[in-house]
This record gives sequence, structure tokens and C-alpha cells, in this order.
Amino acid sequence: MYESSYQPLDENLDKELSYIKVIDVGRRYLVNRVLDHIQSRIVYYLMNIHITPRSIYLSRHGESDLNIKGRIGGDSGLSERGKEYAMHLRKFIQEQDIKDLKVWTSQMKRTIQTAECLGVPYEQWKALNEIDAGVCEEMMYEEIQEHFPLEFAMRDQDKYRYRYPKGESYEDLVQRLEPVIMELERQENVLVICHQAVMRCLLAYFLDKTAEELPYLKCPLHTVLKLTPVAYGCKVETMYLGVDSVNTHRDRPANVTTQRSTEDALQTVPAHF
Ligand code: F6P
Repeated sequence: MYESSYQPLDENLDKELSYIKVIDVGRRYLVNRVLDHIQSRIVYYLMNIHITPRSIYLSRHGESDLNIKGRIGGDSGLSERGKEYAMHLRKFIQEQDIKDLKVWTSQMKRTIQTAECLGVPYEQWKALNEIDAGVCEEMMYEEIQEHFPLEFAMRDQDKYRYRYPKGESYEDLVQRLEPVIMELERQENVLVICHQAVMRCLLAYFLDKTAEELPYLKCPLHTVLKLTPVAYGCKVETMYLGVDSVNTHRDRPANVTTQRSTEDALQTVPAHF
């Protein structure tokens, strides 16, 4: 089929061109005249992806003590309902009977406690830690609005690029997650137990969401998202595991229109990688 539509590059005739030839989906690569950073990144990317059928399971940690108090960040342990979710997650994973499942967590207590309940080996990634809210760590949104009104308004204005004082922005997080994403591309079945902002970044990458949409993607507690790559995209299945929890999602305020909306709408997240 390909032969009827395409003309192969010729090693001699096309030697002045920059190209990468992928033979038998990765058995062999022919890389010709890779000239700049972007081109070498593309080569690296193409050498790390595969087409073996697999699924990536994304879950946040079980509900934490600070989640219950409505406070962001920190490093608290699981609430009673959080622990119950971890047990439900264990049952869910057992029922799915997933071949060679790898489990990854952040280095924060709440994801580690969640993984501990699964009774399987897991790997901790510092890069999966939740967004660092800097001076606002462990505060409630209402307190941030009261003590740092300008900062609070600026975040609503451009949530993707806004960086907390002494902390991070979503844009920083996307960069921090690049090695995780590359390794996810290399692996087969993986369960990633992470955090609200981190899960949004991973989801945005696989679903090709814009920088404008990313910080508002809905990633509720106690819910597993199963991502299965299909031709030209990813199938998403949402599984709520039936354990109540608080809602940590804060919608974009209705009256905010950002200057960057149009620009961002054109920029999809993978452009950063
Ligand atoms: O509230 C839970 C949490 O994981 C916080 O630790 C984090 O700061 C926040 O979610 C990220 O969500 P948002 O970017 O919507 O504030």
C-alpha cells in the first residue's frame, strides 16, 4: 500500500536532505544530516516511541488530610477515605489483570501510601511531585485571595504561565515532566499515581490539549483514567471507583478573558517537548 503512494528517499540522490528513515517500526533507523536541536529532538522522540498495544492508567493519590481541609500542596498522609480508595484501587488493578504492570508514584507521602496498599513493587519519581505552590503552600484558595490578591488575580489571568512566588508554574511542570513522558512512551502498561496538576499535564500531552485548556482539565480524586493509544490519538475511559472525596477542582472564573486565549488555542502542549 505504501509503495503505491510514496516514493522512498534515496541515500545518494537525497543525501543533501535532512531526514530520518524508520525501518520496520524501529528495527533500524537511518538518520541523515540532522542539523539542529529540534531535529535531534525529533530523532530522539521517534527512537523512543513504539506501537505495541498497551494502556496507561492515571490516578491521583487517595484523598489526603490537607485535601479535606481545603489546603493546597504540603505533604500530608491519606484520610480514612483516601485509604479506602487505595484498597479499591488494589481491587480494580487486580480485576483488570494487566500484563507486566509498572506502578510509578511521586516522592510525596500521599502517592506512596496509595501505592503501598496495592501490594506490588513501585518506583518513585521526584519529577512526579505536585506543582510547588511556593509561598502559598498549605494555604486555602480563599486565604491566598485574601493575603496575595494580586497573585491570585494573576493566576486566573494566565494559569498556565503563572509562577507562584518561590514556586512553579504549569509551564515549569510540563518541562519537569518531560523525562517522565519520554519514559512513558518507552514503556508498555503503566499506572501513574500522581497529583492534580501533574495528572493534568500528562493528560494534556496524551490528548493533545492546548496550554489554555490544560490547567482546567478535570482530574477528580478517586477516579482512574485509562488511556489507550489508537490510530491518531488516545482512547480515554473514566472509572470512578465509588469512594466519596472532596472536590479540589476550581473552575476558571467566568469573568476572566485572557489576552493569550487565541494564541494559546493554537499551541498544543506537545510543542513544549
Ligand atoms: O488541591 C490539591 C492540589 O493537588 C494542590 O496541591 C495543588 O496546588 C493544586 O491541586 C493544583 O490545582 P490548581 O492548579 O487548580 O490550583
